Amino acid sequence: LKVGVLGVPFDKGQAKKGVGNGPEFIRKKGLLERIAEIEQKIDVKDYGDVSYKIPDELQKEIVPNMKAYADIAACNFEVSKMVEDIIKTGRICITLGGDHSLGVGTVDGHIKAKNENVCVIWVDAHADLNTNKTSSTGNVHGMPMALLATELSDYWPYLPGMDWQKPVLSLRDVAYIGLRSVDTYERLVIDKLGINAFGMEDIENFGINTIVEMALNKIDPAGEKSIHVSFDIDSLDSLEAPSTGTALRGGMTLREGIQLMEILYRTGRLGALDLVEVNPSIGTETEVNRTIDAAIHVIMAALGHCRRGIRPKNVHTL
Ligand code: ARG
Ligand code: MN
Ligand code: MN
Ligand code: MN
Repeated sequence: LKVGVLGVPFDKGQAKKGVGNGPEFIRKKGLLERIAEIEQKIDVKDYGDVSYKIPDELQKEIVPNMKAYADIAACNFEVSKMVEDIIKTGRICITLGGDHSLGVGTVDGHIKAKNENVCVIWVDAHADLNTNKTSSTGNVHGMPMALLATELSDYWPYLPGMDWQKPVLSLRDVAYIGLRSVDTYERLVIDKLGINAFGMEDIENFGINTIVEMALNKIDPAGEKSIHVSFDIDSLDSLEAPSTGTALRGGMTLREGIQLMEILYRTGRLGALDLVEVNPSIGTETEVNRTIDAAIHVIMAALGHCRRGIRPKNVHTL
């Protein structure tokens, strides 16, 4: 297994300081060492952090109700290029956020690397499906899915500096898992377009295994697509992952998060995983550590860490 780790210390898709330090804290807590301990040997390369500069012609561009627009456009451009390159070298791309606005760049890069043969599982308490017209906050971390979706492209004004990002993702190729805070217009779009949306009550009713199976049957029935998982840490219950900007009770347990990722690992088709919205400036030290540890467990499960352990090969006696 070949893996590339990319940090995106970006925080301008929402208002709270600190989420930009997610990559540093997750690395400091030993992510790469933990990946190296996984039983199946993994070739892991750290690509460092994405940096960006706002081009002169973008400096003064504003789009109504999209905060920090120029930063969003410039950063996501770099993210997309990096993710495309990493996947093209045959690595699974693990992107550490940063806030969820970076999902525009990661999904775009993945789609470019795989010639559009990609499906997306958006694991989140929120749908992140607002446009600048429906958002009540202007925070772009609530908009990435709407920016990516072909079905919603007519609802956006012209977005300067975003021409590299053609909305080529159909919402038919997307499944949500873990929803429990959906805005009115987001609900309208989900219902109108019949988006595969599995909320907390569905997980409760069917169990996480069945939900993942149902999701894959909908978005990749032939089992031939590269799978993109965008994992917002706020999908987990706020007791499990308190250090995040929009923490919410009633969410998934870490056990469900791990189980979900283990199933996706076993498909052999995981192409990219985003782990976003860890904010080390929120909560006590214990809460920060618990949140980062949860993030690392989710990533380990995605890369094949097996909770029951693996017997060494060719050893038949004690
Ligand atoms: N729906 C709200 C908004 O549009 C919250 C979005 C939270 N998104 C996130 N990635 N945590 O602002
Ligand atoms: Mn969220
Ligand atoms: Mn999100
Ligand atoms: Mn463990």
